Amino acid sequence: MIENDQRMQLRAREMPLEIHGSEFRRLGHQLVDQIAEFLDDLPQRPVTSGKSHLAIRELLGGDVLPENGSAAKDLLIEVSDLLFDNSLHNGHPRFWGYITSSAAPIGILADLLAGAVNPNVGAAILSPIASEIEAQLIRWIADLIGYPRTCGGLMVSGGNMANFVCFLAARNSKASWDISTEGLASSDHPKLLAYVSEETHTWIDKAAELFGMGGNSIRWIETDSDQKMKMAALENKIITDRNEGFLPFMVVGAAGTVGTGAIDDLPAIAALCKKYDLWFHVDGAYGAPAAMLPDASVQLKGLSEADSIALDPHKWLYAPLEAGCALVRDPQHLVDTFTHTPSYFKFASTEDVPPINFHEIGLQNSRGFRALKVWLGLRQVGKEGYIQMIGDDIALAKVLYQIAEDSPDLEAGSHSLSITTFRYVPTDLPDKNTEVEAYLNELNESLLTQLQAGGEVFISNAALDGKYLLRACIVNFRTTLGDIEALPQVVIQIGQKLDNDIRPPNLR
Ligand SMILES: Cc1ncc(COP(=O)(O)O)c(C=O)c1O
Repeated sequence: MIENDQRMQLRAREMPLEIHGSEFRRLGHQLVDQIAEFLDDLPQRPVTSGKSHLAIRELLGGDVLPENGSAAKDLLIEVSDLLFDNSLHNGHPRFWGYITSSAAPIGILADLLAGAVNPNVGAAILSPIASEIEAQLIRWIADLIGYPRTCGGLMVSGGNMANFVCFLAARNSKASWDISTEGLASSDHPKLLAYVSEETHTWIDKAAELFGMGGNSIRWIETDSDQKMKMAALENKIITDRNEGFLPFMVVGAAGTVGTGAIDDLPAIAALCKKYDLWFHVDGAYGAPAAMLPDASVQLKGLSEADSIALDPHKWLYAPLEAGCALVRDPQHLVDTFTHTPSYFKFASTEDVPPINFHEIGLQNSRGFRALKVWLGLRQVGKEGYIQMIGDDIALAKVLYQIAEDSPDLEAGSHSLSITTFRYVPTDLPDKNTEVEAYLNELNESLLTQLQAGGEVFISNAALDGKYLLRACIVNFRTTLGDIEALPQVVIQIGQKLDNDIRPPNLR
């Protein structure tokens, strides 16, 4: 029984989290000022502080859950400085590690706006305009890369999730039994197999394991010297497996591998998939946006024939994390795979064209408004703006490759899309043999550790033919030619010092 005085209290309920109008305005202005300053200063900051994770943990202080609150104003000042000073700045013009882009400023503001309105983009009734914006974004992304705009699709958290969505749709569509009812357990059904190149990202391992198929349902196809899937090996494997009673169901083609940006022969994979009635999926998490370039290769443009595509706007559309996107040629496959409607979600529609309820075509139920930051980026600079930025990233990666080829201290490894690999090779090393190669791997690995901690530039590594290579992936609209020219200098400078310190006497 609620007493009268408690009712009185509830009438004038306290709301500790509320921040009212003028205070919100003041805090917001203060925070935006700090962010603007941070963005302006980025080129002058180190890419990373290089502190150890334990030193960083110390900064968080006593680790006691606060019993009482603190003033929002003080918290925002304290925490923005904490983040600005102790983060790896992927928005820095000299960040080229992994495949994470500089975040478009309009995307930063979009996330604030999306958080303010906070639509639940799981169902149209909960997010009338946000659902329409996401649906439009899907059509625009399809237009951008030359995929049919009649496709189905949705925003997800990133490349792993986008690939999972497509993997599940593929499996559902190609299984010769009703997999959603019977599952995979019965021994009456043939084993489903997926074909991927050896360069495929680890999402496929997770998919095979987590979706109950097991790692041995993946057929790893060898790659050639350019890290592209060998087509003859692929076809032979499919034929052998079919003859042995397996059920091949999908082939994954790469539109930009995670290691070196290699692009598989997508038109050839498309033809093979047609021949053997397989689902053709393209992992374009990184490279699919490059298909919009007027001079994109025929191999890359072959993604237009795919049954599904995974693409990450938080990679090469420069959206702030998180933003992945799954596209499926026939929208019905998403409906067939994912639609489960809870009783509390029965949305009656009287309209001829029913609204899209995104919870029905993907893994999530409640969903945030990821689409806004990508959609606004596209509206801000249009397709032309992206063509220019992506084209420049590729051109800068080519320049880096040329510098590596021309420098006596560097050895060029590979160049594809906006990824260049190379390594530091001291000029006075004896001729290459196994021992020298082992030392070069050790030297370049230590060099990368120092580079990453140093904060001047940030790159990562790749493995190619047993060689440990330094790898720059330029998905960064802030990078200039001067930034790229600085990289080999820093590498050589640190490399020389390190070589001096660690080269074994027998190689001197
Ligand atoms: C080709 C490819 N696929 C999938 C992924 C996974 O994407 P995410 O990290 O956004 O989940 C990556 C990430 O780099 C990638 O390069």
